[in-house]
Amino acid sequence: MNPLEISADEFRRLGTRAVDMAAAFLDELNDLPTFPRTSGAETEALFGVPLPSIGKGAAALDDVGEVFRLSRPPGPRFYGYVLGSGEPVAAIADLLASVLNQNLTAWRSAPAAAAIERATVRALAEAIGCKGFQGALCGGGSAANLMGLAMARESRLQANEAGAQAGVVYASEEVHMSIGKAVALLGLGRQNLRLIPVDSHFRMLPEALEHAIEEDRRAGRRAIAIVASAGTVNTGAIDPLGEIAAIARKHALWLHVDGAYGALAALAAPEKFGALAEADSLSLDAHKWLYQPLDCGCVLYRDPATAQKTFAHTGDYARSLSDDPIEGYAFFEESIELSRRFRALKLWLSLRYHGLDAFRRAIADDLRRAKLLAECIAATPELELLSTLQLSAVCFRYVGTEPSEKLNELNRTILRRVIERGRVYISNATLKGRFALRACIVNHRATDADVLEVVTEVLAAAREV
Ligand SMILES: Cc1ncc(COP(=O)(O)O)c(C=O)c1O
Repeated sequence: MNPLEISADEFRRLGTRAVDMAAAFLDELNDLPTFPRTSGAETEALFGVPLPSIGKGAAALDDVGEVFRLSRPPGPRFYGYVLGSGEPVAAIADLLASVLNQNLTAWRSAPAAAAIERATVRALAEAIGCKGFQGALCGGGSAANLMGLAMARESRLQANEAGAQAGVVYASEEVHMSIGKAVALLGLGRQNLRLIPVDSHFRMLPEALEHAIEEDRRAGRRAIAIVASAGTVNTGAIDPLGEIAAIARKHALWLHVDGAYGALAALAAPEKFGALAEADSLSLDAHKWLYQPLDCGCVLYRDPATAQKTFAHTGDYARSLSDDPIEGYAFFEESIELSRRFRALKLWLSLRYHGLDAFRRAIADDLRRAKLLAECIAATPELELLSTLQLSAVCFRYVGTEPSEKLNELNRTILRRVIERGRVYISNATLKGRFALRACIVNHRATDADVLEVVTEVLAAAREV
């Protein structure tokens, strides 16, 4: 017997134990602290040990209990960053995907998986109002933004053969850090990322954008793309997509929409987005507002020919032997990666299990609960809202009776205390120099009462510090 082989019966035994462990974890999610009671020294002592030369057999699974115990759980009161809650049907699909071990390079390597990924991506695009867009799943919004901007660069300032030149990209001051990273990696030069001012709702100001483009043009600089945010990471602000699309058209610039946080909310509230379909490329994150387990990002684009021009660089050994549009399809000719896991199985299974309407309702509930939380904060004299609500990110701070110059430090201390208390998990943002507590509701497990605990917990933490 091969040293790594296990029997089907052993697999069944291990699998049953693993599923029991996972089910017990899901069962107790409501009672677990929102951050595990642990320290770096403890995790290092437990996991930073040498791997065994001689296998432990089924006993290896015993240690997974500690992994569960020392993980930050995806419970009903987790509202940090922008992170979905891990839909369990999708988790089962991830196990199956690993057993199937399909390599999503091309149809010929994974016939069913390739068809499922292409159909799921098409369906997602259509569900958010971008019918006809194509694309692929990827690790997350950062990878999708990099691919969007790579297409922008190749379409406006060809770099694949001769190398990159400086090219100007416009985005709002509130844009996600992955855009600055993409601009740097693509050799466009981070100093060529123009951060356009925002209005009092943290949305890009179109007139300031127009002004910046004119100024660069007069100075002889080459502009290539505008990045509009459909849900900024700090406050969920949606840039005025229609006006920005008109400016992009007028100046022949590529329009990439960073919808990693917000675009999937178009399933439930399409009226908030309007001109999403005017983008040339778009990033989505199903591991955010479609509740999928990590990782599950998605890049969409309108024109496959531009994607091919940007990404096709195929070695002879990989060239397709089929002219059939389905059987000859290769993801690697339209995206960065070659080997890719079967991410689409989780989306496909969880969307088929629950149906799109259930996801629409869950997103609508998140939007409603964020509003409920914002109203509760507005009605609490010790607290102050720091941004208007556009999606589900609620930014606020404790003011109490403290002088304003002490508020940043005080709220930082309160945040640490809230997390130590372990009832809710929130994160932070800096808005116009003010330190904000931030609750981002993209959690299918949350109830109204859970979300309102943010207020109770912040007040309790403030009393303690
Ligand atoms: C607006 C926005 N864009 C991009 C990203 C990056 O996504 P990922 O963490 O999946 O790479 C995020 C993450 O929070 C985001 O909120």
